[in-house]
Amino acid sequence: MPVEIKSPKEIEAMRVVCRLAAETLLEVGDKLRTGMTTADIDRIVHEHTLSQGARPAPLHYKGFPRSVCTSVNEIVCHGIPDATVLRNGDIVNVDVTHVYEGFHGDTSATFYIGTPSADARHVTEVARRALDLGIAEVREGARLGDIGAAIQEYVEGEGCSVVRDFVGHGIGRKFHDAPQVKHYGKRGTGERLRAGMTFTIEPMVNLGGWEVDVDTGDKWTVRTGDGKLSAQFEHTLLVTRTGVEILTARSRALRGSENVAALFVA
Ligand code: MF3
Ligand code: CO
Ligand code: CO
Repeated sequence: MPVEIKSPKEIEAMRVVCRLAAETLLEVGDKLRTGMTTADIDRIVHEHTLSQGARPAPLHYKGFPRSVCTSVNEIVCHGIPDATVLRNGDIVNVDVTHVYEGFHGDTSATFYIGTPSADARHVTEVARRALDLGIAEVREGARLGDIGAAIQEYVEGEGCSVVRDFVGHGIGRKFHDAPQVKHYGKRGTGERLRAGMTFTIEPMVNLGGWEVDVDTGDKWTVRTGDGKLSAQFEHTLLVTRTGVEILTARSRALRGSENVAALFVA
Protein backbone atom coordinates (compact mmCIF):
# COMPACT_ATOMS: atom_id res chain seq x y z
CA MET A 1 0.00 0.00 0.00
CA PRO A 2 1.47 3.38 -0.97
CA VAL A 3 2.07 5.80 1.88
CA GLU A 4 -0.03 8.94 1.59
CA ILE A 5 1.67 12.33 1.29
CA LYS A 6 -0.47 14.96 3.00
CA SER A 7 -1.26 18.27 1.27
CA PRO A 8 -0.61 21.54 3.12
CA LYS A 9 -4.33 21.69 3.96
CA GLU A 10 -4.36 18.13 5.31
CA ILE A 11 -1.24 18.88 7.34
CA GLU A 12 -2.96 21.87 8.91
CA ALA A 13 -5.94 19.65 9.83
CA MET A 14 -3.54 17.11 11.36
CA ARG A 15 -1.90 19.89 13.41
CA VAL A 16 -5.28 20.85 14.83
CA VAL A 17 -6.50 17.38 15.82
CA CYS A 18 -3.10 16.40 17.21
CA ARG A 19 -3.00 19.53 19.38
CA LEU A 20 -6.42 18.64 20.79
CA ALA A 21 -5.30 15.09 21.60
CA ALA A 22 -2.18 16.46 23.32
CA GLU A 23 -4.34 18.82 25.40
CA THR A 24 -6.56 15.96 26.52
CA LEU A 25 -3.51 13.99 27.65
CA LEU A 26 -2.38 17.05 29.68
CA GLU A 27 -5.84 17.13 31.28
CA VAL A 28 -5.49 13.45 32.26
CA GLY A 29 -2.15 14.21 33.91
CA ASP A 30 -3.69 17.08 35.88
CA LYS A 31 -6.58 14.94 37.15
CA LEU A 32 -4.95 11.55 37.83
CA ARG A 33 -4.93 10.56 41.50
CA THR A 34 -4.26 7.44 43.55
CA GLY A 35 -7.60 5.70 44.20
CA MET A 36 -9.16 6.66 40.87
CA THR A 37 -10.37 3.90 38.58
CA THR A 38 -9.48 3.48 34.93
CA ALA A 39 -13.18 4.14 34.23
CA ASP A 40 -12.61 7.59 35.80
CA ILE A 41 -9.85 8.19 33.22
CA ASP A 42 -12.29 7.16 30.49
CA ARG A 43 -14.82 9.72 31.74
CA ILE A 44 -12.18 12.49 31.87
CA VAL A 45 -11.02 11.73 28.32
CA HIS A 46 -14.53 11.35 26.94
CA GLU A 47 -15.80 14.61 28.40
CA HIS A 48 -12.67 16.61 27.57
CA THR A 49 -12.69 15.37 23.98
CA LEU A 50 -16.35 16.27 23.46
CA SER A 51 -15.77 19.69 25.07
CA GLN A 52 -13.26 20.38 22.28
CA GLY A 53 -15.85 19.49 19.64
CA ALA A 54 -13.82 16.36 18.82
CA ARG A 55 -14.70 12.66 19.01
CA PRO A 56 -12.81 9.88 20.84
CA ALA A 57 -11.64 7.56 18.04
CA PRO A 58 -11.38 4.36 20.16
CA LEU A 59 -15.10 4.36 21.05
CA HIS A 60 -16.69 1.56 18.97
CA TYR A 61 -13.52 1.26 16.82
CA LYS A 62 -13.62 -2.41 15.72
CA GLY A 63 -15.88 -2.96 18.72
CA PHE A 64 -13.65 -1.31 21.35
CA PRO A 65 -16.14 -0.34 24.10
CA ARG A 66 -14.57 2.80 25.64
CA SER A 67 -13.14 6.19 24.65
CA VAL A 68 -9.51 5.58 25.63
CA CYS A 69 -7.11 2.71 26.27
CA THR A 70 -5.80 2.44 29.85
CA SER A 71 -3.02 -0.12 30.31
CA VAL A 72 -1.90 -0.75 33.90
CA ASN A 73 1.41 -2.42 34.90
CA GLU A 74 1.77 -5.71 32.93
CA ILE A 75 -0.87 -4.61 30.42
CA VAL A 76 1.03 -3.70 27.25
CA CYS A 77 -1.73 -1.91 25.33
CA HIS A 78 -5.47 -1.82 24.56
CA GLY A 79 -6.51 -2.05 28.22
CA ILE A 80 -10.24 -1.41 28.60
CA PRO A 81 -11.20 1.13 31.28
CA ASP A 82 -13.13 -0.57 34.10
CA ALA A 83 -13.46 -0.61 37.90
CA THR A 84 -9.70 -1.22 38.38
CA VAL A 85 -8.46 1.08 41.14
CA LEU A 86 -5.09 2.78 40.62
CA ARG A 87 -2.85 2.11 43.62
CA ASN A 88 0.38 3.58 44.87
CA GLY A 89 3.22 2.24 42.75
CA ASP A 90 1.16 1.42 39.65
CA ILE A 91 2.06 2.70 36.20
CA VAL A 92 -0.71 3.37 33.70
CA ASN A 93 -0.44 4.15 30.00
CA VAL A 94 -3.25 6.38 28.74
CA ASP A 95 -3.61 6.28 24.95
CA VAL A 96 -5.73 9.12 23.56
CA THR A 97 -6.89 9.30 19.94
CA HIS A 98 -9.12 12.10 18.65
CA VAL A 99 -11.03 12.57 15.42
CA TYR A 100 -11.67 16.17 14.36
CA GLU A 101 -12.89 17.31 10.95
CA GLY A 102 -12.13 13.87 9.56
CA PHE A 103 -8.53 13.57 10.79
CA HIS A 104 -6.98 11.52 13.59
CA GLY A 105 -4.43 12.47 16.26
CA ASP A 106 -2.92 9.72 18.42
CA THR A 107 -0.74 10.13 21.51
CA SER A 108 -0.03 8.28 24.73
CA ALA A 109 2.07 8.46 27.88
CA THR A 110 2.75 6.31 30.90
CA PHE A 111 1.96 7.92 34.26
CA TYR A 112 3.26 7.13 37.73
CA ILE A 113 0.66 6.59 40.42
CA GLY A 114 2.25 7.65 43.71
CA THR A 115 5.83 6.49 44.13
CA PRO A 116 7.06 3.96 41.56
CA SER A 117 9.36 1.01 42.21
CA ALA A 118 12.83 1.11 40.64
CA ASP A 119 11.59 -1.37 38.00
CA ALA A 120 8.55 0.77 37.16
CA ARG A 121 10.73 3.86 36.77
CA HIS A 122 13.23 2.00 34.62
CA VAL A 123 10.76 0.55 32.13
CA THR A 124 8.87 3.84 31.90
CA GLU A 125 11.94 6.02 31.38
CA VAL A 126 13.35 3.56 28.82
CA ALA A 127 10.06 3.70 26.88
CA ARG A 128 10.09 7.50 26.91
CA ARG A 129 13.69 7.70 25.72
CA ALA A 130 13.03 5.01 23.09
CA LEU A 131 10.33 7.20 21.56
CA ASP A 132 12.67 10.23 21.60
CA LEU A 133 15.45 8.24 19.89
CA GLY A 134 13.00 6.96 17.26
CA ILE A 135 11.81 10.49 16.56
CA ALA A 136 15.42 11.67 16.22
CA GLU A 137 15.81 9.36 13.18
CA VAL A 138 12.90 10.95 11.29
CA ARG A 139 13.80 13.12 8.29
CA GLU A 140 13.23 13.05 4.56
CA GLY A 141 15.30 10.25 3.02
CA ALA A 142 15.74 8.22 6.22
CA ARG A 143 14.37 4.64 6.22
CA LEU A 144 11.74 3.07 8.44
CA GLY A 145 14.35 0.52 9.56
CA ASP A 146 16.49 3.35 10.96
CA ILE A 147 13.71 4.14 13.43
CA GLY A 148 13.23 0.53 14.50
CA ALA A 149 16.97 -0.09 14.86
CA ALA A 150 17.57 3.01 16.98
CA ILE A 151 14.76 1.98 19.34
CA GLN A 152 15.71 -1.70 19.53
CA GLU A 153 19.42 -1.07 20.12
CA TYR A 154 18.72 1.32 22.98
CA VAL A 155 15.94 -0.71 24.65
CA GLU A 156 17.87 -3.99 24.55
CA GLY A 157 21.00 -2.20 25.80
CA GLU A 158 18.95 -1.20 28.84
CA GLY A 159 18.05 -4.85 29.50
CA CYS A 160 14.46 -4.45 28.33
CA SER A 161 12.68 -5.76 25.22
CA VAL A 162 10.61 -4.33 22.37
CA VAL A 163 7.14 -5.71 21.65
CA ARG A 164 6.93 -7.15 18.13
CA ASP A 165 3.20 -7.78 17.74
CA PHE A 166 2.09 -4.12 17.71
CA VAL A 167 3.61 -1.32 15.67
CA GLY A 168 3.30 2.37 14.90
CA HIS A 169 1.20 3.32 11.89
CA GLY A 170 0.38 5.86 9.23
CA ILE A 171 -2.46 8.13 10.35
CA GLY A 172 -4.73 10.73 8.81
CA ARG A 173 -8.31 10.24 7.67
CA LYS A 174 -7.73 6.65 8.76
CA PHE A 175 -6.83 5.75 12.38
CA HIS A 176 -4.46 3.00 11.21
CA ASP A 177 -2.97 3.38 7.74
CA ALA A 178 0.23 2.44 5.90
CA PRO A 179 3.09 2.29 6.69
CA GLN A 180 3.67 -0.08 9.59
CA VAL A 181 6.32 1.46 11.83
CA LYS A 182 8.19 -1.34 13.56
CA HIS A 183 10.03 -0.56 16.78
CA TYR A 184 12.77 -3.06 15.93
CA GLY A 185 14.74 -3.81 12.76
CA LYS A 186 17.82 -2.96 10.72
CA ARG A 187 19.23 0.38 9.63
CA GLY A 188 19.13 1.09 5.89
CA THR A 189 16.10 -1.13 5.31
CA GLY A 190 12.44 -0.41 4.77
CA GLU A 191 10.57 2.36 3.07
CA ARG A 192 12.15 5.79 2.62
CA LEU A 193 10.53 8.66 4.50
CA ARG A 194 9.21 11.57 2.44
CA ALA A 195 8.10 15.03 3.50
CA GLY A 196 4.34 15.06 4.08
CA MET A 197 4.07 11.56 5.56
CA THR A 198 2.29 11.40 8.92
CA PHE A 199 2.70 8.38 11.19
CA THR A 200 3.02 7.39 14.82
CA ILE A 201 5.96 5.99 16.73
CA GLU A 202 4.77 4.18 19.88
CA PRO A 203 7.29 1.70 21.28
CA MET A 204 5.94 -0.76 23.82
CA VAL A 205 8.83 -1.67 26.13
CA ASN A 206 8.77 -4.72 28.39
CA LEU A 207 10.90 -5.19 31.48
CA GLY A 208 11.14 -8.92 30.68
CA GLY A 209 10.64 -10.73 27.36
CA TRP A 210 8.87 -9.27 24.30
CA GLU A 211 6.19 -11.96 24.07
CA VAL A 212 2.61 -10.87 24.74
CA ASP A 213 -0.81 -12.51 25.07
CA VAL A 214 -4.19 -11.14 24.05
CA ASP A 215 -6.97 -11.70 26.60
CA THR A 216 -9.13 -14.57 25.35
CA GLY A 217 -12.20 -13.15 27.10
CA ASP A 218 -12.36 -9.47 26.03
CA LYS A 219 -10.14 -10.04 22.93
CA TRP A 220 -8.50 -6.61 23.49
CA THR A 221 -6.31 -6.51 26.60
CA VAL A 222 -2.68 -7.29 25.72
CA ARG A 223 -0.48 -8.51 28.59
CA THR A 224 3.19 -9.39 28.85
CA GLY A 225 3.65 -13.16 28.55
CA ASP A 226 5.82 -13.23 31.68
CA GLY A 227 3.64 -10.88 33.76
CA LYS A 228 6.42 -8.27 34.06
CA LEU A 229 5.86 -4.53 33.62
CA SER A 230 5.39 -2.78 30.28
CA ALA A 231 5.40 0.92 29.38
CA GLN A 232 4.69 2.98 26.27
CA PHE A 233 4.80 6.52 24.88
CA GLU A 234 3.36 7.65 21.53
CA HIS A 235 3.49 10.72 19.30
CA THR A 236 1.99 11.50 15.90
CA LEU A 237 4.70 12.90 13.60
CA LEU A 238 5.03 14.76 10.32
CA VAL A 239 8.08 14.20 8.12
CA THR A 240 9.39 17.55 6.90
CA ARG A 241 12.15 18.53 4.45
CA THR A 242 14.42 19.40 7.34
CA GLY A 243 13.43 16.71 9.85
CA VAL A 244 10.31 16.12 11.86
CA GLU A 245 7.40 17.99 13.41
CA ILE A 246 5.95 16.39 16.54
CA LEU A 247 2.27 17.05 15.87
CA THR A 248 1.20 15.88 19.35
CA ALA A 249 3.91 17.91 21.15
CA ARG A 250 2.73 19.29 24.48
CA SER A 251 2.68 22.93 25.53
CA ARG A 252 4.02 22.01 28.98
CA ALA A 253 5.33 19.00 30.92
CA LEU A 254 2.88 16.19 31.54
CA ARG A 255 1.98 16.07 35.21
CA GLY A 256 2.63 12.66 36.79
CA SER A 257 4.80 11.53 33.90
CA GLU A 258 7.44 14.01 32.70
CA ASN A 259 9.96 15.76 34.93
CA VAL A 260 8.96 13.75 37.98
CA ALA A 261 12.24 11.88 38.48
CA ALA A 262 13.53 14.53 40.90
CA LEU A 263 10.58 13.87 43.21
CA PHE A 264 11.70 10.32 43.74
CA VAL A 265 15.31 10.94 44.62
CA ALA A 266 15.79 9.80 48.21
N1 MF3 B 1 -4.41 4.16 20.11
C1 MF3 B 1 -3.95 2.85 19.75
C2 MF3 B 1 -2.78 3.07 18.84
O1 MF3 B 1 -1.89 3.74 19.23
C3 MF3 B 1 -5.00 2.03 19.11
C4 MF3 B 1 -6.14 1.72 19.97
S1 MF3 B 1 -7.30 0.83 19.09
C5 MF3 B 1 -8.56 0.71 20.21
O2 MF3 B 1 -2.71 2.69 17.71
F1 MF3 B 1 -9.54 0.25 19.58
F2 MF3 B 1 -8.18 -0.05 21.18
F3 MF3 B 1 -8.82 1.94 20.68
CO1 CO C 1 -1.20 4.65 17.47
CO1 CO D 1 -2.49 5.38 20.38
